[in-house]
Amino acid sequence: MSQQSLRSAMITGTGRYCPERVLTNFDLEKMVDTTDEWIMTRTGIRERRIADKNEACSDLCYHAARSALDMAGVRPDELDGIFVGTVTGDNQFPATAVFVQERLGATHAAAMDLSAACSGFIFGVALAHGMISSGRMARVLVVGAEVLSRFVDWEDRATCVLFGDGAGAAVLEPCPADDGILATNMQSDGSLADLLIIPAGGSRKPLTAESYHERDQYIKMKGDGVFKHAVRAMADASRAVLAEANLTIDDVQLVIPHQANIRIIDAVIERLGVARERVVVNVDRYGNTSSATIPIAYDESVRGGRVKPGDLVLFTGFGGGLTWGSVLFKNVLGR
Ligand code: ACO
Repeated sequence: MSQQSLRSAMITGTGRYCPERVLTNFDLEKMVDTTDEWIMTRTGIRERRIADKNEACSDLCYHAARSALDMAGVRPDELDGIFVGTVTGDNQFPATAVFVQERLGATHAAAMDLSAACSGFIFGVALAHGMISSGRMARVLVVGAEVLSRFVDWEDRATCVLFGDGAGAAVLEPCPADDGILATNMQSDGSLADLLIIPAGGSRKPLTAESYHERDQYIKMKGDGVFKHAVRAMADASRAVLAEANLTIDDVQLVIPHQANIRIIDAVIERLGVARERVVVNVDRYGNTSSATIPIAYDESVRGGRVKPGDLVLFTGFGGGLTWGSVLFKNVLGR
C-alpha cells in the first residue's frame, strides 16, 4: 500500500542487551544427543545467550531501551508510545511493555505488546511509522525482546539448539516524508500457524497436568516447512518495499535479515541477488532470538561503524504465524 504523508519517521537511537551467560554447542552436547558439527552445518549457530534466572523479558527490554534513548537524546517522559514485540513476555497479561514503561518512567507513553513472533520488531517499526507519519505520535520506542530459554523444550534436540535470549530497541521520531522510513511491508498467513506454535498455556488448551505431561507448554516446530516459507517470504517482502520506493537491491548498502539459520539467510541472499558483504550475520553468536535478532544486529552495525548516515538499510524477517515483513529506510545513525 502506498504511504503518502507529509512526514515520515526515522530511527534516531538504538540499543541492545544480550544476557551474559553463554551456552555453546559444546555445552549442548552434554545436555542432548547433538554435536557442534551438526548444529554448525545445519544452522550456523555456535553459541547463544541465556537470561539469568532473575531476568524476565521486561528487564532485557529495559537495558536495550535505556541505551536507545541515550543515543537518541530522548527522555522517557517524552515518549508517546512503547511497542514491545515479544512472544515470551513477563506474564500472560498485562503487557510486558507496561513494566518497561514503569521502569523507564515513561509516564506519557501508551504501552502495548505485539504478538507477531520473530516479525514483532518489524511490525512494531511499521506501526510506529504509521502513528508518527499520521501525526498521532511523535516519539515511539520499539523493542524486540525474548526469553525463549523459558519456552524451549530442553529435551528436544530439534529445537533447543536453535534459540537464544536477547533484546534490541529503537527510538523513532518524525522526519520529512522523503527521509527516514521509505516503505514498510507486513504480511501474515494463519493457515500455517501450526508450523511453529506453543500449543498449551492459552485459552485453546489451558495448562493442565495432561498438557504438561505432553510437554505442550514448549515450542513445537516443523522445521522444514518453516524453512521453505521463510526464504520465499523474506525475498517477497524485500522486493515489495524496494518496488514501493522505486529502488533496487543494488541501491541498498546494508541488509539485515532475521537471524534464524545461516542456510535461510544464504538462500535469501541468493534470491535477492545481493552481495554477501552487504548482509549482516550474527546468528553464530546469538542463535535465533526471534523478535530481537534484527534490532540487535542493527545496533551492532550502528555502534560498530558498519553503517553511515545516508545509507539505505533493509530489514526483512519472518516468524511464527506465519508472519513476515520488511522495512526500507535511510539510516541517519553512525559516523
Ligand atoms: N542434533 C543432531 N541431530 C539432530 C538434531 C540435533 N540438534 N536435530 C535434529 N536432528 C536429526 C533429526 O532427528 C533427523 O534425524 P533422522 O534423519 O534420523 O530422522 C536429522 O537430524 C535431520 O533432521 P531434519 O529436521 O531433516 O534437519 P534439517 O536439515 O531440516 O535441519 C533445521 C533442521 C535446522 C531445524 C532446519 O529445518 C531449519 O533450520 N528450519 C527452519 C527453522 C527455523 O528457522 N525456525 C525458527 C524460524 S521462525 C522463528 O524465527 C520463530
